[in-house]
Amino acid sequence: MKRIPSKNNKRSLFLFLPAAMLLMASINTLGADLTKRRDDWSSLKTGKDIYFASCVACHGTRGQGADPTMLGFDPSPPDFTDCKFTSREMSNDWVGIATGGGPMKGFSAMMPAFGKALSRDQIEKVVAFIKDFCPEKKWPPGEFNLPKALNTGKAFPEDEAAWSVSGGLENPVSVKGKFVIAKRIAARHQIEAVIPLEVHRIEHDAADLYTDRRWEISSGDIAAAWKSVLWFSRSAGNIVSVTCDVFFPTGNRENGIASEIFIVEPAVAIGQIIPRLGFIQLQGGAELSTDTATKSHVVFWRGAFGRTFRKGGFGRAFSPMVEVLGEKEVSGNTSVNWSVVPEFQIALSKRQHIRLGAGLAIPVNELDMRPLNIMAYLVWDWYDGGFTEGWK
Ligand code: HEC
Repeated sequence: MKRIPSKNNKRSLFLFLPAAMLLMASINTLGADLTKRRDDWSSLKTGKDIYFASCVACHGTRGQGADPTMLGFDPSPPDFTDCKFTSREMSNDWVGIATGGGPMKGFSAMMPAFGKALSRDQIEKVVAFIKDFCPEKKWPPGEFNLPKALNTGKAFPEDEAAWSVSGGLENPVSVKGKFVIAKRIAARHQIEAVIPLEVHRIEHDAADLYTDRRWEISSGDIAAAWKSVLWFSRSAGNIVSVTCDVFFPTGNRENGIASEIFIVEPAVAIGQIIPRLGFIQLQGGAELSTDTATKSHVVFWRGAFGRTFRKGGFGRAFSPMVEVLGEKEVSGNTSVNWSVVPEFQIALSKRQHIRLGAGLAIPVNELDMRPLNIMAYLVWDWYDGGFTEGWK
């Protein structure tokens, strides 16, 4: 059919406005209609065709998100051309959102469910297509963001806040706490600040008459750290980073939890994805003392092996794992201290941006010197939403 060219621009705007309003109205009810659409879209084969049929109205022709004033609803769709956002998410999480809709992961219901309108294969193709809106290949993909182990450092750079505690089953009781805040810098780097605290029970005989018992909080050595991803390979499923932590002698000296000297801790961290949501993480490094008369250098190696389970394929992630830890003082003829740590990580929020990890560090040798340690952390990926967002 031949189109009739419009002579009057104002008039075409006039026609355009009601059309746009109609579009908005139809978008608002799109979620409900999607169930009936399967036949319309079943012939679409490429990610691009599927995108332009089913996602473009809200996500825009270039993936930047349609103009919010045109859409007329909150929240606006995200900008898929922003690599910082698009690279960090796991494809599986996005397949889940596109299948079950925004609320499946604690997002808005304005992001509809396509599970009945598109096949699993089509959804995977369209997710791969939207991932490519990020044109830069230097960003490590979210698949490498493996579950956080209690001790073994991760290779993936993060935007997160983490609180961790560990307490020995010893007498008198002492609980070590640590607050860590990490921020990603560009595609491959991360800076981090660590603030340690210790709460312990003081028990000593004051004169012969009574025993003085009280709780005391003291601060440990504050640390700053840098991490850089050296290399990653999607096909081989591995990622390698180098890290360097510097501990400053800021801690409370009287209680003996501070080192009183600078410690520099270089390390290498490796993440390896194995099939069926399995993973291996390895970390090796050294705590280099700036005064070996006070404190010897220590070398350490750590490994975490585990697997993630997801309810229904997309649900809350649960990752049981076991860590093997070894460390040795370089000077003197001290033996290697070995521990094993059975532990798990579980996503607490629906969006999975708040997760809990807990485990028990079991020493394997030198048992009289090294008590059992209960360890736990709470981690919040603050880039993915506020602490109270994404729970329902
Ligand atoms: C009716 C409008 C609409 C359509 C159609 C739509 N989306 Fe969305 N989408 C949204 C909105 C709005 C958000 C933001 C939700 C939020 O932030 O709570 C969103 C967010 C997303 C997210 C990001 C979630 C995150 O991690 O932040 C993905 C992935 C996504 N959509 C994929 C798709 C795919 C794939 C299609 C087509 C098959 C599609 N969307 C079609 C409105 C839509």
